[in-house]
Amino acid sequence: MRAMYPGSFDPITLGHLDVIKRAAKMVDTLYVVVMRNPAKKYFFTTEERMKLVERSIDGIDNVVVDMHDGLLVDYARNMNIKVVIRGLRAVTDFEFELQMANANRQLLPGLETVFFMTDEKYSFISSTLVREVATLGGDISQWVPEPVIMAFKDKIRRD
Ligand code: PNS
Repeated sequence: MRAMYPGSFDPITLGHLDVIKRAAKMVDTLYVVVMRNPAKKYFFTTEERMKLVERSIDGIDNVVVDMHDGLLVDYARNMNIKVVIRGLRAVTDFEFELQMANANRQLLPGLETVFFMTDEKYSFISSTLVREVATLGGDISQWVPEPVIMAFKDKIRRD
């Protein structure tokens, strides 16, 4: 079975990584797809976000990292993927996730979304929170994989 785990990953967090590790055990190939929406402004470029995912998943051999511009369902259709993985941190995530899962299933009948409950250790972590703390000089080391810490240091030094 092939599944995809789409997201902005701006940047990848330990919460994302936990979902990747758990989902990878249940499928043959897991495509972690870094999405790019031209209307959205990201902190890291698509290439940087992809590289950070690649460096963070070192050692998991059935995970493929990719990127995609446009509709999630187009990627799923082109890659013959029938399962979308998403993480749920709290009930506040549910409404948006339900809307997306239903819209995606209507756009591509048969495309199922499977939710992983985020480990409670990571239930409050979001990329938004990580970006805010990191750019204000706070310690994000408990929330993100090592390559992300280095990437923030580099980016902040260059800006
Ligand atoms: O990590 P995020 O920001 O919660 O991920 C949201 C994402 C990228 C999965 C979602 O916005 C998405 O699928 N975007 C691609 C465009 C698309 O297919 N939109 C319709 C979904 S109903």
